[in-house]
Amino acid sequence: MKALVYHGPGQRGWDTVNDPEIVDPTDIVVRIDSSTICGTDLHILKGDVPETTPGTVLGHEAVGTVEEIGASVVTVAPGDRVLLSCVSSCGRCRFCREGRYGQCLGGGGWIFGHTIDGLQAEYARVPFADTSVYKVPDELNDEQVLFLADILPTAYEVGVLAGMVTPGDVVAIVGAGPIGLAAILTAKLYTPGRIIAMDLADSRLASAARFGADTTINNGRDDALAQVMELTDGLGADVAFEAVGVQSTFELATELIRPCGRVANIGVHGKPVTLHLEKLWIRDVTLTTGLVDTYTIPRLMNLVASGRLDPTIFATHRFALEDTMAAYDTFADAASTDALKVVLQGSERLTSSNGHLAAGVAGVG
Ligand SMILES: NC(=O)c1ccc[n+]([C@@H]2O[C@H](COP(=O)([O-])OP(=O)(O)OC[C@H]3O[C@@H](n4cnc5c(N)ncnc54)[C@H](O)[C@@H]3O)[C@@H](O)[C@H]2O)c1
Ligand SMILES: [Zn+2]
Ligand SMILES: [Zn+2]
Repeated sequence: MKALVYHGPGQRGWDTVNDPEIVDPTDIVVRIDSSTICGTDLHILKGDVPETTPGTVLGHEAVGTVEEIGASVVTVAPGDRVLLSCVSSCGRCRFCREGRYGQCLGGGGWIFGHTIDGLQAEYARVPFADTSVYKVPDELNDEQVLFLADILPTAYEVGVLAGMVTPGDVVAIVGAGPIGLAAILTAKLYTPGRIIAMDLADSRLASAARFGADTTINNGRDDALAQVMELTDGLGADVAFEAVGVQSTFELATELIRPCGRVANIGVHGKPVTLHLEKLWIRDVTLTTGLVDTYTIPRLMNLVASGRLDPTIFATHRFALEDTMAAYDTFADAASTDALKVVLQGSERLTSSNGHLAAGVAGVG
């Protein structure tokens, strides 16, 4: 089969590799119908993720069709359409029993395109199928659920739920990339009083407005702290999300909130960050961090099915799976392509006449 293979820092290829096979009785093999690229894949390609060794197939978000099941798999059958989450769950360890799949001790957690072969491929081996995949209802098409594999549950769990967004809250979001935008969509489920989005890129701020931010601030040009204070009678936001992953944005998020406010850090920090406890302690602030568990996927899928959440607005570009190399170029150059998420469409999906796909096919390229 063909797959997008990591060959060490700065190097990738669309290569012919061995077809995946069932290894453990809890495995399934899935034909990939739709996949996508994440900012984390770009980090791996920069060499920032040393656990990912050259030769690994990248990708940790996909929708596919079950081809083959291992001897002990009982909840899915060949032909079923499934969403493959960025986080797998052994279902048995202490953390999986608590729904904290990201911390799985039994071989799960973030493994696709990280420590095992991933999902930007024609086929994939999927471990722990019974406890890790989500059946997709017939009435939902691939693009309606694809972004529930990573960005939606990340923003919802590590941002909105950890930050305890409550009706009426002023929610400040620092960083309007896919994660910050997903935080806007999922914060809106709680009817906040105002959503304020900040970014350095005007194109991202335009997206934030389209996704539902009430106020956008270019914090490179304007004094974001002063503007937030002005909008909140000098108090600050009730909740701030850090959705970038650098010192200055973390610091801004902690400065933006009111006394007794909450900061939910979503960004992945590659470098040490200073926490100004000398200023924060007296303000009764709560700070949370987290890795996504994706335990909210069923809830989010219900919201999509009932029309209350529409993640399809993330899909800015569509490519045939075999053009994944070009899709990477487009995604990595978001500053000039305005890419949010690129959809990679498997050949079955491109040629299928099952009715789900007509809109996607029209947009390929
Ligand atoms: N906690 C988790 O489980 C988890 C999961 C997935 C991603 N993440 C992290 O979330 C963060 C955001 O992900 P993404 O995919 O949206 O990333 P992204 O790089 O696509 O977007 C980041 C955005 O931040 C903006 N930005 C950069 N510097 C800024 C600054 N100084 N002030 C304001 N805005 C600034 C950029 O213009 C961009 O729009 C990353 O750090 C990513 O690793 C965390
Ligand atoms: Zn990701
Ligand atoms: Zn586990």
